[in-house]
Amino acid sequence: MSGFVDVADVLAGEHDGKRVKVRGWLYNRRSSGGIQFLEVRDGSGVVQCTLNRRNIEEGAYTSVEGLPLESTVELEGVVNLDDRAPGGHEISVDRVGEVSAALPDYPITKQRHGIEFLMDNRHLYVRNPKVQAMMRIRASFLRAARSWFEENGWTETHSPSFMTASVEGGSTLFSVEYFDREGVYLSQSWQLYAEAMIATLGKIYTIAPSFRAEKSRTRQHLSEYWHMEVEEPWQDLHGIMGVGDELVCHIAHALAEEMPRELKFVGRDPEDLLKLEPPFPKISYDEAVEMLNEQGVEMLWGDDFGRTQEEPLSLNFEQPVWVVGFPTGIKPFYHLPNPEKPDVTMSADLIAPEGYNEIIGGGQRVHDYDQLLQRIHDDNLDPANYSWYLDLRKWGSVPHSGFGLGVERVIMWMTKQDHIRDTIPFPRDVRRVFP
Ligand code: 4AD
Ligand code: MG
Repeated sequence: MSGFVDVADVLAGEHDGKRVKVRGWLYNRRSSGGIQFLEVRDGSGVVQCTLNRRNIEEGAYTSVEGLPLESTVELEGVVNLDDRAPGGHEISVDRVGEVSAALPDYPITKQRHGIEFLMDNRHLYVRNPKVQAMMRIRASFLRAARSWFEENGWTETHSPSFMTASVEGGSTLFSVEYFDREGVYLSQSWQLYAEAMIATLGKIYTIAPSFRAEKSRTRQHLSEYWHMEVEEPWQDLHGIMGVGDELVCHIAHALAEEMPRELKFVGRDPEDLLKLEPPFPKISYDEAVEMLNEQGVEMLWGDDFGRTQEEPLSLNFEQPVWVVGFPTGIKPFYHLPNPEKPDVTMSADLIAPEGYNEIIGGGQRVHDYDQLLQRIHDDNLDPANYSWYLDLRKWGSVPHSGFGLGVERVIMWMTKQDHIRDTIPFPRDVRRVFP
């Protein structure tokens, strides 16, 4: 057989009354009194295909009889409208093409399976309708982000994943064997290289994996996650927060418009996303500490935020909230100290609402050579590892800012999931690198 159509187009009514060929995996089946109902999944959708023993050659009818789930089939027939069929369309099959039978014992059955079992079988569980909807949302998310960058004059550029210095502190660095060289790590962030690239491309972004060797077994940590980062010359802290507001709202609105069915299916009302409007509220780090203490969450000025702070704080807001001005002692060396109050930095984290966590971290960078060298010394880092980064302050250094957005963190919040592992096809965390 050749000339197959997409199931999505059948469901969209493009072939009503016409003869079509479809192919896919046998997702579900039942039969009653000489009629077989096969639900066929082709990657674009699931359509019910009906074989009536009276209207089809006996050999063709029996070739799919008792076929195990997840076998592949090629079917030809006429598209009918039928309210009883899932999706409202049905194909009355009168020809069967190539059939490839699966083994009879597909491990994922209709009974409830535990999380560990499903993660051990992730290579098959990705076929589950919820995982499928999540991955479609993820694709739509990235498409929306890229189109926003494109429309607003940002250029995509990339940095290496192997590097010789830490960006976000040594405790979350993955060491790698790199030929016979010591001190090579997986990138935690493209940022340092981005600061070189702004001098040639202007405002830039990337969407790429970042790596964090965090031993935390939380619902929001991956050891490999997709990082959407921006860097902009002649930009300050306030301006870069505005970029975050616009980007996040654009993505949220695009998802609500393009994926309403998928969002509802995974548990998020698209209306929630349409309500997001820039600018997001801002509170200072000092105010956040006060607010948390009033809520009964213990926190001292100078402590870093973790989920025990972010989650209760986020419950006070309907929209994401920017926490601005973290203490210099808890932020990496590249953050610009506030000229009026050097014990805090020109930094900001965006915390998602509804008990979620930090989704963006960023701010304004140190652009003065001597100040940067001092910050590197203060953090007990070896300036030799940052010589090229320091160089950037010698030839045309301008105020600049940027941020990093955790793709899976934002998807987790926008789709209202309880765990970050549901936002990525094959999650990597402290416990899992297989399959
Ligand atoms: O706050 P982070 O560590 O900031 C940076 O890496 C900056 N260099 C980014 C920049 O300014 N260009 O990470 C940024 C974001 C966090 O807000 C969070 O959303 C996400 O990356 N993130 C993680 N997501 C999943 N798993 C982890 N282990 C993550 N660590 C950070
Ligand atoms: Mg952070």
